[in-house]
Amino acid sequence: MTVLKINWNFIELTEMGRRDIIDNQGFKNIFKKVSNLKRSEKILDVACGIGTVPRLIYQIYGENNQIYGIDIDQNLIKYGQEHWGKPEHIHLQYGDVFNIQFQDNEFDVITSFGLLDFIERPLDALKEMVRVKKTYGRFIIITIEKSKYERIPDFKSFSNHYNEYLTSLKHLGLPIENEGEFIKKLFSKLGIETRLHKFIIENKAEITSGLIEYWENYFEKSNYMKFLNSLDFYFQFLKEIGWTREKFNEYIKKELSGKKMIDFFKRFVGKTITTRIGIAILDSIP
Ligand SMILES: C[S@@+](CC[C@H](N)C(=O)[O-])C[C@H]1O[C@@H](n2cnc3c(N)ncnc32)[C@H](O)[C@@H]1O
Repeated sequence: MTVLKINWNFIELTEMGRRDIIDNQGFKNIFKKVSNLKRSEKILDVACGIGTVPRLIYQIYGENNQIYGIDIDQNLIKYGQEHWGKPEHIHLQYGDVFNIQFQDNEFDVITSFGLLDFIERPLDALKEMVRVKKTYGRFIIITIEKSKYERIPDFKSFSNHYNEYLTSLKHLGLPIENEGEFIKKLFSKLGIETRLHKFIIENKAEITSGLIEYWENYFEKSNYMKFLNSLDFYFQFLKEIGWTREKFNEYIKKELSGKKMIDFFKRFVGKTITTRIGIAILDSIP
């Protein structure tokens, strides 16, 4: 397990799309090793957001490949096109994973970061991704592992709370397994074997007013399930401000609506906390 130390500024993270993960040299090295892209490969990044993965590939491999990205959120696509769409090499466009507007067998490589572990009907999404992949093409899937926290000593005192949190996720219909393992199983249901590479990123995060704004926007157009993706950060924060088990249980019971949580966070703008996040990269074996 590799541990990468980086600084995360959440305003950057949210506005620029995980920039501090992908700009981290250690992360890049791991991604490069796993992806091992050849010249002239045609790549599709599914749920590209503002183009995090297309940009990562472009940074590592330069103009060697044609990279396509689709996302259902037009605003993110627009932002991505304005900020790092390289017209000749990176093509970001609207697209729904359940109905990908490309031909069968079109791509050498399919990538995705942060989709399969929280979307409804992940198997259907994956089947559609398989359809547009060439027979001997590959998958490279990145996920942030919420359950990775259990293994970090600093978080030990927190693990009881965490188990209850996982149970509450189960009730919401989310996979409560380690996300990397979950995605691996998903692939194996379609007879696709994958390798799982895991590492941990340590980072410092500041609670900025930009982050609060981002969350407010996020809540307007999404539901609580999506928001749970941000909770890696939240748990460490709760510990830092001395939340007890009782308080946390109370929170889980009462605060699933989200808006109240934002009001709560507003009081802590300007404070810096430390988090550790598990990252998994899966690549398929053709
Ligand atoms: C956690 S974000 C990850 C974005 C990007 N891959 C990244 O890592 O920065 C999940 C993305 O999935 C997109 N999404 C959700 N449902 C989708 C669907 N049915 N088809 C395509 N994209 C979808 C959202 O718009 C969002 O951009």
